[in-house]
Amino acid sequence: MPPPAAEPVSPQAVATPLTRSAIFLVVTIGRTPESRATVRGLCADLAGLVRSVGFRELDGSLSCVMGIGSDAWDFLFGAPRPVELHPFREIRAEGRVAPATPGDLLFHLRANRMDLCFALETVLLARLAKVAAPVDEVQGFRYFDSRDLIGFVDGTENPKGPDASAAAIVGEEDPTFAGGSYVVVQKYLHDLAAWNAIPVEQQERIVGRTKLDDIELDDSVKPTSAHNALTTIVRNGEEVDILRDNMPFGRPAQGEFGTYFIGYARSVSITEEMLQNMFVGNPPGNYDHLLDVSRAVTGGLFFCPSATFLDAVE
Ligand code: HEM
Repeated sequence: MPPPAAEPVSPQAVATPLTRSAIFLVVTIGRTPESRATVRGLCADLAGLVRSVGFRELDGSLSCVMGIGSDAWDFLFGAPRPVELHPFREIRAEGRVAPATPGDLLFHLRANRMDLCFALETVLLARLAKVAAPVDEVQGFRYFDSRDLIGFVDGTENPKGPDASAAAIVGEEDPTFAGGSYVVVQKYLHDLAAWNAIPVEQQERIVGRTKLDDIELDDSVKPTSAHNALTTIVRNGEEVDILRDNMPFGRPAQGEFGTYFIGYARSVSITEEMLQNMFVGNPPGNYDHLLDVSRAVTGGLFFCPSATFLDAVE
């Protein structure tokens, strides 16, 4: 008799179609028995809460992905741990800094209407009120043709369909945590005045694509320091992807113009290699000139276990 087939595992809503709105919420949690019980209770109830809020507007496509930081994982679940889960590794190179900032839980809320994200965030925070402290909250919006605030279309080369899941979802390499995903988040602030003072042709060489029509520059003109060159990672002769869902955010009256970077990966080492290339450079010194006008002010790494795992938490 063949062994019984393993139960199918459902990932969280990591690979979803682009939405118009998103909220990125990072919280820290107390290390008390009450806190542990409350957060574990939320894990089990999360899917139901998303259904309750989302059912009010079915066309709104509300979803929520919950991620858990390395220390919080030990506190909440103990062993076994996802193989690659560790705290975000800060990078410093010649004044360019990718800081690691506090965060135990990440909630990535997406919908086609901000009111749905807002309503769900309110419900989540009410559940966590006694045990969690919010440390970062960003409301992101879709901007024109999916452009970021530096005016370039952002997301074009993202993997799609089955390729998206293959890039973002852990498989047999870590069977206990198959269906999960590693997510890195960073909040970037742009100096838009400095960026806009750079001639468009030079901006295009920094990004590696044309600005108006979003065509990749030919290798004969694309510098090796272009953003899309430094973030192209090849392993065993094949390009390996991550799945991004960056969102612009900002408060023009405060002079705040930002990009919230979020990248899901099957192996976080891929995202880390991209960051290394951007900040340190490849080779060192050949860094990403987006960083001349962009500053990372937060940085976190979280593991998003499968929906099946969350549902089963007691
Ligand atoms: C200041 C923050 C950032 C901005 C404004 C930005 C913007 C862009 C833009 C405009 C593109 C070209 C269009 C596309 O394919 O999406 C792009 C591509 C890409 N970015 Fe970023 N990005 C940022 C940060 C990051 C970070 C931190 C990573 C990884 C750690 C990253 C990874 C990638 C990848 C993998 C691509 C696709 C490269 C390719 O295959 O052509 N980006 N980004």
